[in-house]
Amino acid sequence: MQSNLKPPYTITLIPGDGIGPEITEAVVKVVDATGCGLRWEPVVAGLEALEEHGELMPKEVHRSLQRNKIALKGPLTTPVGTGHKSLNVQLRQKYQLYANIRPIALIPGIDSRYVGEAMNMVIFRESTEGLYTGIEHTIVPGVVETLKIITEKASTRIASKAFQYARHRGRQKVTAVHKANIMKQSDGLFLECCRKIAKKHPEIAYEELIVDNCSMQMVMNPSQFDVILLPNLYGDIMSDLCAGLVGGLGVTPGANIGDKHAVFEAVHGSAPDIAGQGIANPTAMLLSAAMMLRHLNMDDSAFLIRTAVGNVISRGKSLTRDLGGEATTEEYTAALIKEVQRLAKRGP
Ligand code: NAI
Repeated sequence: MQSNLKPPYTITLIPGDGIGPEITEAVVKVVDATGCGLRWEPVVAGLEALEEHGELMPKEVHRSLQRNKIALKGPLTTPVGTGHKSLNVQLRQKYQLYANIRPIALIPGIDSRYVGEAMNMVIFRESTEGLYTGIEHTIVPGVVETLKIITEKASTRIASKAFQYARHRGRQKVTAVHKANIMKQSDGLFLECCRKIAKKHPEIAYEELIVDNCSMQMVMNPSQFDVILLPNLYGDIMSDLCAGLVGGLGVTPGANIGDKHAVFEAVHGSAPDIAGQGIANPTAMLLSAAMMLRHLNMDDSAFLIRTAVGNVISRGKSLTRDLGGEATTEEYTAALIKEVQRLAKRGP
């Protein structure tokens, strides 16, 4: 799952909307403190781009991404009910970022009712089709249709990616999640593709769960899960549910991986309720950056970041409000930088 790109790496940096610019600034400082030497290429997309350039996704964003092949992205706001189509969905579809990968694990020191559970799973969400194609129309007034598209190609490639990942990372089990008892054809095809790929990997256990049962099991006994393979919408919902198990959206990272491009971003959105207050938690985006470093074979810097996050949170002194503390984004970031520098000086 590593990238074929060669150093020095230039990263397309999309700060995004809402809390995006605040957490992006924090993340860049912490990543730079590792001494990894990444070059950043900031580009503006979203509501700020609309104000400045009259476009939500200016051409420069695409030029940069096409050139660099890799991006670190903040959240982008999507209006509810009306307005523009999600830019996140557009990016995933345009660059065929079909694997939305979201690791779910408890960071030491985080206060969660699941402390003590051996919870360590990874979500593999198909992210180019399903109910996110945005094909909707009014049939007659009062009746609206949304099309759910499931293809053999997209289902097979996400299943292959999940099993390959399980094999490389020594994981034991893949659970495919569906509603094929009701959507017999669409989710049925998704399952058929998962089963075909599972047969090629007899060393990895394979099971299937209906999405409603999976949601209950996830809350009752999350440690039973390892790699979870889902179509788009179920993957989106399950991601936030799982974030709730491990301390919330402030600490849950993610990656969107395609065959040619990769965009790393947190699970959370633009959090308009806290934007501009200097209290957002940058951890989710920072851990997404650590996933990016690992993708670029910069494992030492990724490890440094993960260890620093674990140490600072464990000490419990400089936590942001979502984690029960009172620290601002700036104070928490300063604690992280200090810890990264301390760890780097100590050496491996
Ligand atoms: P949200 O994830 O932005 O916020 C949900 C709750 O979690 C809020 O109470 C927020 O304050 C809190 N939260 C989220 N991230 C946090 C952080 N880093 N630190 C502390 N607290 C945090 O979800 P919401 O409100 O449903 O969506 C807001 C906007 O974000 C919408 O326009 C939505 O479409 C967009 N969105 C964008 C995503 C992306 O760019 N990939 C993903 C999800 C939503």
